[in-house]
Formats: sequence, C-alpha cells, structure tokens
Amino acid sequence: MTKADHISPGSPGLRRLVDPYGRRLHYLRLSVTDRCNQRCLYCMPPSGIAKLNHQEILSLEEQARVARVAHSLGVDKIRLTGGEPLLRRDLPVLLQALGRLSPRPDLRLTTNGRLLAAHLDQICQAGVTAVNVSLDTLRPERFGLITGLDLEEGRRAFAAVWEGIRAALARPGLTVKLNLVLLKGLNHDELVDFARLTLDLPLAVRFIEYMPVGAAKTFAPERFLSADQALAALAGLGALEELPRQAGDGPAQRFRLPGAAGELGVIHALSNHFCVTCNRLRLSAEGRLVPCLFSDRNLDLKPILRGGGDDAALALAMLQAAAMKPRHHQQTQTLATPSGCAMSRLGG
Ligand code: 5AD
Ligand code: SF4
Repeated sequence: MTKADHISPGSPGLRRLVDPYGRRLHYLRLSVTDRCNQRCLYCMPPSGIAKLNHQEILSLEEQARVARVAHSLGVDKIRLTGGEPLLRRDLPVLLQALGRLSPRPDLRLTTNGRLLAAHLDQICQAGVTAVNVSLDTLRPERFGLITGLDLEEGRRAFAAVWEGIRAALARPGLTVKLNLVLLKGLNHDELVDFARLTLDLPLAVRFIEYMPVGAAKTFAPERFLSADQALAALAGLGALEELPRQAGDGPAQRFRLPGAAGELGVIHALSNHFCVTCNRLRLSAEGRLVPCLFSDRNLDLKPILRGGGDDAALALAMLQAAAMKPRHHQQTQTLATPSGCAMSRLGG
C-alpha cells in the first residue's frame, strides 16, 4: 500500500485512520477549552498563558462535527480534555451529541476534579464510562503549591477534588482513575500513600512521567522522576503483581498490590517509547489536529469548518493528519522542545 492509498477519499475499505506505520488511530482526544482554574506547574507558567479569544475556540457544534466525522473513520473512543473541560458551558450538549453516535463511542473525561461532584449526573447520563482526575498530592497543604493556588485556596480546592473523587466512586459503572505527574521533591514522598489508596478503593492510580511539553519554559528537569524510580519507591509494599496487557489499555504498565481493590499503573512517557502502540489523535481547543504531542506538526481544521468545507473535506484532512504521524518521538528528559500547542489547549 502506498501513502496515497491511506488518504484516498473514495475507497470505503480504506476509509479508516491508519498512519504510515500501520497504526490504527481510533482514539480521539478532544480539548474542549483552553481555560483552566488551576496553573499546575508542569503545565503552565505561574502567570498563566495567553487565553485564546472566544472566536478562536471551536464551538461545541464544530467539535461535535469533527467527532462525528472521526467516528465515521473508525474512531471508537473519545476523551474530553482541556484545559479544564468542566469549565466549558454547555458541555452536556456536546456529550449528548457524542452519546448519540452509533455505535456509541467509549466516552471518557479528564478533569482536575474541582467541579466534578456537581457535574456527575450529566456526565453519567451522557454515558461517560471513565473519569481521570488529575491529583498530584494527597496533602491539602501542598495542593496550592503544585496547582498555583494560595495555601487556603489550595486546601479548599483539595477538599472539592476529593469530594468529586468520592462521588465518582459511588457511581456504579464509572471507572475512576487518578493521574499523578511524578515530581521529585514535591510528591516523591507520597507515592506509597497513593499506592495504598488502591488497597481499599476501586481506583486506578497512574504515575505519569513529567514531560517537557507545552509551556516548556516552566519545565524543571531536576524535578524529573522516572517511572522505574517510582516503582522502586513502592518496594516496601510487597510484591506487585503485573497485570496482563489488554487491548485498548493505552500506554500504562499495570500492577496490583496484594489483595488490593484497585490497581496501579506507570506511564513511561519519556524513559521508554510507547509510541509503537500509539492509537491517538488530538484536537486542540482551536481546532488543530495534532498527530503527536512531541511534534510541532499539526493540521488546522478551522479553514474547512468555517470556510464551508463539507464532511468529505474534513475526512480527507483527518486522513492527512494521520499520515503526518511520526513513527516515534525523539524527546528526552532534558531536551525541552515545546510541542506546537500548549498542554492546556491540548489536554494531557
Ligand atoms: N507532563 C506530564 N503530564 C502532564 N499533563 C499535563 N502536563 C503534563 C506534563 N508536562 C497531564 C497530567 C494531567 C493531565 C491533564 O495532563 O496528567 O493530569
Ligand atoms: Fe493543571 Fe490540567 Fe489545568 Fe493544566 S489544564 S493547569 S494540568 S488542571
């Protein structure tokens, strides 16, 4: 098969998002807003980053349209991210539109959890199957330091996130994951506490390597802690049972503590290439399709969306974006090449 076959618009059997290396891209991550009520130090500089103006951000109708066309090209899993997706007004409208796609895609949400408790009814009604909550510390007095809030705001915010996590765990059928970015000197000493959470709670905790992407100026290489170092910190907890890889697992290597209700996972974002199994395509808040987090290349869908382009033109652009996906990234721990879009416009 030639490259051109991948992007030929008319051949039904080939109308699937497949990259030049044979990876089927069936997972779309939709950043619904660049707005956020936090400034996590691995994501944004303390002063924040310039906000997109309203016109630049795709409307929910435009996002739903992109998702529908992607679905027609084989996307069966969609994650809403941000910024903080729950800050987007009318998010339920988008969720409902995605829930009406047939067959219904696997719908997921990544959130910082601050507004989660209040949105759970809508999230569950729309058929969301999993929420990932970003939480980098279990100590209320540390929360503000990591998320750019003052001490008191941080304490209150922590309480709200924890309430959201509790409420989500109480919803039958909703998978709850905690994402923790590994930060030397900031949460290295809490990894055992995070792991212990999984003993009693049916949670999946994910330890994620800190990546020098997005607002890379804030990247502090001395904070980098590898996934292997994180696993080593758990040595006192007993033998970890490695769980078998399942289809659609994503990049996490998964483990269970003896007798635990939940599970642990580590994501070797930098120290080990998981690119061979990469199945994702990202849509930034301003409508750019981003084939790889670590690359500057992206494809702007806005001219098609706002210039009267039809669904066939959109589909062709998506196939072209798939063809732009690199085989793997060249990123290392110290090389801070910012990706084309800030993380807060792109989701993690
Ligand atoms: N390194 C690793 N993960 C990051 N995220 C955001 N920025 C980074 C980064 N520089 C991830 C976090 C967060 C999600 C929204 O994105 O896991 O939970
Ligand atoms: Fe933190 Fe997510 Fe907001 Fe970035 S977008 S500042 S990671 S909560």
